[in-house]
Amino acid sequence: MTKILVVDDDSHALRLIEFALTKAGYEVITATRGEEGLQKAFQSPPHLAIIDLMMPQMDGYEVCRRLRQNERTAEIPIMVFTARIQEIDRQTALEAGANEFLTKTATPNELVSKVKELLAKSAPAPGVEVTPGQITTLFSLRGGAGVSSIAVNLATALAQQPNQKVALLDLCFSSSSVPLMLNVRPTLSLVELAKEDTTISLSVLEKYMVAHPSGVKVLPLVLSMARVAPISAKTVESVLSVLKNGFNHVIVDTSSSLDDMTLAALTHSDQIILVLVPEVVSVQAAIVTLQAFRSLGVSEEAIVPIVNRTFAQDGLSTETIQNALKRPIKAMIPHEPELLIQAINSGTPLTLSQPATAMATAIRKLASVLSPS
Ligand SMILES: Nc1ncnc2c1ncn2[C@@H]1O[C@H](COP(=O)(O)OP(=O)(O)OP(=O)(O)O)[C@@H](O)[C@H]1O
Ligand SMILES: [Mg+2]
Repeated sequence: MTKILVVDDDSHALRLIEFALTKAGYEVITATRGEEGLQKAFQSPPHLAIIDLMMPQMDGYEVCRRLRQNERTAEIPIMVFTARIQEIDRQTALEAGANEFLTKTATPNELVSKVKELLAKSAPAPGVEVTPGQITTLFSLRGGAGVSSIAVNLATALAQQPNQKVALLDLCFSSSSVPLMLNVRPTLSLVELAKEDTTISLSVLEKYMVAHPSGVKVLPLVLSMARVAPISAKTVESVLSVLKNGFNHVIVDTSSSLDDMTLAALTHSDQIILVLVPEVVSVQAAIVTLQAFRSLGVSEEAIVPIVNRTFAQDGLSTETIQNALKRPIKAMIPHEPELLIQAINSGTPLTLSQPATAMATAIRKLASVLSPS
């Protein structure tokens, strides 16, 4: 029987939730204090936890954090169920490790259907074999080709597909594009992780990742340039191999150089999206990159060349590019000037804020190539 832990200091609310969930066929464990909830969860981990935010002594955020920190409960789905309705509460809850945020204006039926959804989305119980996910690295040897924009939109598009857990790994020191484009405020990053003398496991990584409302979990490279430190290829390899076992898709944003981190990602990817813009220097950079891939032993089938129309007019034709590369172009991302800039500035990817635009449609198509249903 699926066991759900409900923590709420309001005993009236607790009884209502318990009634709705029991009626829906779940076994319900209740607690009226954060500490009591944690104790019950660590003793016998539930399949899902529903946590209230405003509670005396230990609040719901802290309960979420501690559940995530404990090996036994690090992976359980957490729903915050609260009277607080502010966006900042939602952000803080997600950052504290919650997977879902539901306000108490929801009806018991809505609560039950959210619980069902969240259980369906979450990872299988321990012991169940998980098929390894796919690592997809986006790369362009020429900067400014739209690699980060496509990575962010691709990750959120994949997360919108049913039952897909998506991680987004940021490997760019040059800018904090990924956190900015998703408007997430990380408090830890790969740089801090690399300094720790710890074995990298999924529950360790989850602490360094920040959840975006789309479901994408972001692992940033560095919080600020003042904290910059080298990351070895070995660290990148370990992170990727752990993420591969915990997520269906791992999307990697890289900078436009073949540094150690990027090489590690490229040589451990299932797919490489080689991003080109329709101009001569970018095509030449792609030709050189393909030569490098060959000498690195990257398999031909893994390479997915795509064209991103970052400028409006006078670009090279797809035919010219294909002839130069001696390979077909697998996707075309159309030019999207205003809405893309708006999306970047507001921190909401186009695939979420403007799903009907041609660019969002092209990215969803690319997502379906990577994740055939
Ligand atoms: N399809 C597009 N249409 C219009 N503008 C685009 C498109 N794709 C990207 N851009 C613009 O190009 C610029 C560079 O985008 P982005 O930061 O994603 O590129 P990048 O390859 O990650 O760059 P960097 O080398 O700095 O990491 C941004 O201003 C972005 O808005
Ligand atoms: Mg970038």
